[in-house]
Amino acid sequence: MELTEKPAAPERPRTGAPVTDGAEAFAPPLPAVERDWAPALRRSPELWQIARAVGGGPFHVVHPGTFAANLRAMIDALAAESVSGTVYYGKKANKAAAWLREAAVPGAGVDVASVPEFAAALGNGIRAEDIGVTGAAKSGGLLWLAARHGALVAVDAADELERVACAAADAGRSVDVLLRVRPPSAPESRFGMDTDSLQAAVRRCSELDGRVELRGFSFHLDGYAVEPRARLADTLVDLCIDARAAGHRADRISIGGGIAVSYVTEEDWAAYRHGARPEWFHAGRMPEKTYPYHQAPTGATMVTAILRTESRGRVLAERLRDNDIEILLEPGRALVDGAGFSVFPVQGFEPRPGHGVTTVAGLSMSLSEQWKGSEFLPDPILVQRDPSSDGPVRTFVGGASCMEYDVLTWRAVRLDAPPRAGDLLVYPNTAGYQMDKNESGFHQLPLPPKVVVDDDHRWHLDTEFPTQEVR
Ligand SMILES: Cc1ncc(COP(=O)(O)O)c(C=O)c1O
Repeated sequence: MELTEKPAAPERPRTGAPVTDGAEAFAPPLPAVERDWAPALRRSPELWQIARAVGGGPFHVVHPGTFAANLRAMIDALAAESVSGTVYYGKKANKAAAWLREAAVPGAGVDVASVPEFAAALGNGIRAEDIGVTGAAKSGGLLWLAARHGALVAVDAADELERVACAAADAGRSVDVLLRVRPPSAPESRFGMDTDSLQAAVRRCSELDGRVELRGFSFHLDGYAVEPRARLADTLVDLCIDARAAGHRADRISIGGGIAVSYVTEEDWAAYRHGARPEWFHAGRMPEKTYPYHQAPTGATMVTAILRTESRGRVLAERLRDNDIEILLEPGRALVDGAGFSVFPVQGFEPRPGHGVTTVAGLSMSLSEQWKGSEFLPDPILVQRDPSSDGPVRTFVGGASCMEYDVLTWRAVRLDAPPRAGDLLVYPNTAGYQMDKNESGFHQLPLPPKVVVDDDHRWHLDTEFPTQEVR
């Protein structure tokens, strides 16, 4: 086959590949850093049993054990600094219900932004007092439900505060609220209140006494940096102190999500970033911006770093402790880090000069990064049905639709062998926002099912609500 290369051969195209200025014509590898369960399942016969059982189409695999470990590490990070708080899973990151059952533990909760998300949390054992409601100008139904059940509501604007008060009156009980701050670093954000609106809202909470209880303040920042989060959290502590002086309870701050994740090693990421060029991508389609696929600190280590960051001579943890303030986190992506992968059966491979075209069952909507004009960069992995001795190939990867732009990977990635119909192409670590944020039933194709696995490769389909076997 023209495009195959002997495994030991240097990674140079045989024919027609772009000539570059002495730099690498092909992208360096970006292998995903994975948890042990993922490669183990990939190499096991159970993967093929699952593929057959779900009918030969694409599917997602989720591993709640990894979610539980990520969550436990964050709860422990708070405890290690002697700080009280709650880690709310940002449910938007992935719709599987299996995560919710893992979040039904002390120190955890769920962050929801819609009635279906609220109902899913309740139905999977999350108590209403452990549900945080965020999201822009929430629907009347969501506010009413939050009021009825006693969930914590983050309020974005003055008119929303009035609607919360109405919902409280309807529901016959007072609602706990956080007032969301518009970060000074993002003055044009459509979320949160500026300083004047915030002060007015604090005063209004006094007038609404009995319908609204001001429990504190919140923010959500873009990016993944420690320092701005710690600094703004420190300001929120001040806001709590001032609000208490005005008679409010104000004993909580929420620092939102944005806890960082690394998908690849520092070395591999540096090699990609320093060399990235359009020639590495089919049709030159290099994304202008991507997620930072390697960063530090990440996960629970980042939580610790935030708590240990000093502002005005004192670390955040100390300020929280001294003022009896709880810290709330809303991580989405970081809790599902390493906890899932997506499987697309190969439908075809066409060798072409330079790099070939692989077409998989499934759509690029199951890999959301493509829908932001970006690319999910960790390398896909070929799992062959029958081993072949043909050498590696370069290929980009398209979905099974009629759209030219339905592409899962524009980068000409290296696969160990030419993919053949019936092989599986696995995209690693896709649970955070990739799997199901943008999925649609285009071409009347069914949405890929989610399969829940454990370390012993026992598996079942994700169920909307608990069945006999809860975990
Ligand atoms: C208010 C709020 N909280 C939490 C999150 C979750 O963010 P991440 O998945 O980056 O942790 C988001 C994401 O947009 C958000 O808007």
